[in-house]
Amino acid sequence: MPDRADWAYSSALMTKARPLTRHIISINDLSNKEIETIFEVAQGFLKELADPNVPYRIGHSTDIAAKSILASLFYEPSTRTRLSFESAMLRLGGANITSADPTVSSAAKGESLADTIRVISNYSDVVVIRHPRDGAARLAAEYSQVPVINGGDGAHEHPTQTLCDLFTLRSKKKSLKNMKVAISGDLKGSRTIHSFVYALARFGATIDPLPAPGMELPGHVDRRLREEFHCRMVSKDPGQPNGGSIDALYVTADQPHQLSLYSDPETDYGPLLQKKTDAVYVTRFQKERWAEKDRPYPKIDAKFLGEAKYSDASVMHPLPRVNELDASLDTDRRAVYFQQAAYGVPVRMALISLLLHLHKNNSLHQFHGGFAEPSFPVYMQPIGTGFSCDNPNCITVDPAERQYAANKFYLVDEDARQRCALRCVYCEKDIESDASVQFVIADATRKTFAPDLAALMRLPSDKLKHHIIYRNAADALAAGFEPRDGARKAHAG
Ligand code: NCD
Repeated sequence: MPDRADWAYSSALMTKARPLTRHIISINDLSNKEIETIFEVAQGFLKELADPNVPYRIGHSTDIAAKSILASLFYEPSTRTRLSFESAMLRLGGANITSADPTVSSAAKGESLADTIRVISNYSDVVVIRHPRDGAARLAAEYSQVPVINGGDGAHEHPTQTLCDLFTLRSKKKSLKNMKVAISGDLKGSRTIHSFVYALARFGATIDPLPAPGMELPGHVDRRLREEFHCRMVSKDPGQPNGGSIDALYVTADQPHQLSLYSDPETDYGPLLQKKTDAVYVTRFQKERWAEKDRPYPKIDAKFLGEAKYSDASVMHPLPRVNELDASLDTDRRAVYFQQAAYGVPVRMALISLLLHLHKNNSLHQFHGGFAEPSFPVYMQPIGTGFSCDNPNCITVDPAERQYAANKFYLVDEDARQRCALRCVYCEKDIESDASVQFVIADATRKTFAPDLAALMRLPSDKLKHHIIYRNAADALAAGFEPRDGARKAHAG
């Protein structure tokens, strides 16, 4: 049975963050309007402070962040993200403190992220963090007194890279609406891709996945695109209007009510299929996230881009590149990747200055709210019961961090399938049902269990805490619960 103290511990964690301290952990922590505001502010910095010879390069400084400090806490290699954040802070007139090598910080002595962030947030006004674990930035935010910005957490997300990507697209094309963007390479391991596809869908772009073999978008990202971001899958083969094959495009529905798993056979997708591609976004094989270090991988070169549909496509890459993007493209008029990296400075200047409320006259200077204040109920699994997140790279399963993280899950209502799924609050991966995972709900008051996970969503939050989810009936039985009437038959024997 759960220890009462576990519940109290978990609830205390939930109330840690101050309500007006904004953290940018996922691109979905920002509304579309806020993203536009960031771009307006970034554009303003470029107008005022650009190098006269290189219009996308910030060449001058202001002092609006004088006396403010940015802490960069990097547990993984970085060139662009850390240095552009630090350059942005200096251009704003602020200062930086940096921990960029975990082998020379207290991490090497075994200090947890939760303790480190509690210390560092007393030394700085804003923190940018990069960590190899999915969900690490969310955990850091729970323990921080100041805004935390995710500079990349495992294979989860990299929201500020997406801001640079969208800003670049916006500078090249008028609007993201109706834009067609191809994404190539390691769509599974690339956190830049995961933040990017959510944003593309939210702004109404069509996404054309070109994955390396076996590196398709992860199941949970694909599912969110379809079920939360109103994407439909359309087969690239005009003879097969009903999508579902992996060779498919994601089209954002104009209206949320058009949500459907598959494309509408009545709709003529021909014009869309024939439409030219506006941008090709190339990613590196994320070898640090794969066991096999050598796999077949697509190379984007002049031959690939010679196809008519790519004749006006901007070529983008978050960098670093390894072999997937031919250096001969650097002089191609379509190549924008160095400009994309340069935009890291004005975009991050805008983000930092908005988070620190430095714009007195900006209409959105309060900068709170957000696109997806998650509307799903949060369920807390008592520590030591049932299960925890099954993503082996989630911060909540890290031996050094697990005592600081609660087993928290969103109860996600899967409209399209009339059932409920569990999504880890930290890494946002869904726990999949399979032969060994057939969730049952135990009622701690009645000491019984039943298989209806969706029933949990209907419970008021004060009742929710008296229920425990087990992976299957055998685990609930082992914990001393009895099957509830209907469940007794189902689990008999
Ligand atoms: C990316 C990252 O770290 O995820 N780099 C970056 O921040 N521009 C992309 C990558 O490493 O491949």
